[in-house]
Amino acid sequence: MLNLGIIGCGSVMQGPYMELVNKLLFKKIINLKSVSDINLKIDKIINKKFKYQYFYKNYKKILEDTEIDLVLVLTSMKEHAKISKEALKKGKHVLVEKPMATNMKDLKELIQIAKKSKKYLFAAPFVILSPVFQAIHQEIINKSIGKISLARARYGWAGPNWSEWYYQTGGGPLFDLGVYNITSLTGLLGPVKKVTAKSSISNYFRKIKGKKIKVNTDDNFQILLEFKNNCLAVVTTGFTMQQYNSPAIEIYGSEGTIQMLGDDWEPIGYEIWKNKRSSWELYKTPYANWPWASGFTHLVDCIINNTKPLIDIDHAYHVNEIMIKIYESSQKNREMLINSTFKPLKFYKKIKIKKSHLDHDRNHDDI
Ligand SMILES: NC(=O)c1ccc[n+]([C@@H]2O[C@H](COP(=O)([O-])OP(=O)(O)OC[C@H]3O[C@@H](n4cnc5c(N)ncnc54)[C@H](O)[C@@H]3O)[C@@H](O)[C@H]2O)c1
Repeated sequence: MLNLGIIGCGSVMQGPYMELVNKLLFKKIINLKSVSDINLKIDKIINKKFKYQYFYKNYKKILEDTEIDLVLVLTSMKEHAKISKEALKKGKHVLVEKPMATNMKDLKELIQIAKKSKKYLFAAPFVILSPVFQAIHQEIINKSIGKISLARARYGWAGPNWSEWYYQTGGGPLFDLGVYNITSLTGLLGPVKKVTAKSSISNYFRKIKGKKIKVNTDDNFQILLEFKNNCLAVVTTGFTMQQYNSPAIEIYGSEGTIQMLGDDWEPIGYEIWKNKRSSWELYKTPYANWPWASGFTHLVDCIINNTKPLIDIDHAYHVNEIMIKIYESSQKNREMLINSTFKPLKFYKKIKIKKSHLDHDRNHDDI
């Protein structure tokens, strides 16, 4: 059984991650040994809901515990790189929420440590694990829509109202939301060579838990990505979008079009237009219950079976560099070059598209 430690016990820990942790606890695959949060009040809230042995204010106690195999870093963003570096150095497997780092110095140091370490570093988001993403990836590899020239992606909402750090430097919708779109687009189209971006503060004040706060980071982004294969893509992201009914991802090829429906972190299916047929085909999601935090179960699986992960650290580094350069592009009002690259993603299992008319109960989905 693997011993798990969780650092940062806020919204994402108490919801999506604990749902998956509880499933693995039930199957006796893991033991949630320790949790840590700088806010001591959280212990009182979560010890009524979850089973764990120790709560620490100082996360270093988790890292010093030699029985802990695996650590989830679910804190606010600015803490991610520092805690992940220390955890790898202490010989832990690490899953870190996005972004891994908010500046290039921390990002480079973290990757150097990860590459020297024999342990896994998994960086969120895990959109490439979604069956819909992999089905679209398959269509692109099979050249179903020909040579791809253009793409669009979007993800936004009105913005969090539970933690102030989302609106301070090192927070913001690019690291929080745009990261999903950039991971999806690069996962489908390969590495980016240049970025140009405009960003702004749209709302100077927000309300967090009823208290008015000043916003100190951009909450509104339009981004242009130029890929190594010369494809051009745009990403729209912000805490400035109330609702939408548009595809998450649009891919335009010489022979057709693919549209991912829903959001890329929670796709509900995809549509494909092929000139050959001169019609649209709609595929509902093969696995509606795919959980976006599934990088966690994938990591546990890789540790237990000692297998090569689908989550690629070079891809995650590339996405993180793009995001840091997007801020620079907007501030300096110019195009920025991207230095990193990664190898094309490979999926070994072919995605079977389930027949939607036979899909009566999604709880039977086995992913
Ligand atoms: N909330 C979501 O829906 C959601 C979804 C996907 C990903 N994420 C990501 O998850 C991360 C956390 O987001 P959240 O919404 O849960 O934030 P949150 O503010 O609700 O929780 C973060 C917690 O980390 C704690 N913390 C901060 N520094 C710490 C430290 N040094 N040691 C221990 N604890 C520390 C805070 O006290 C807080 O309780 C972010 O990277 C976010 O982008 C959040």
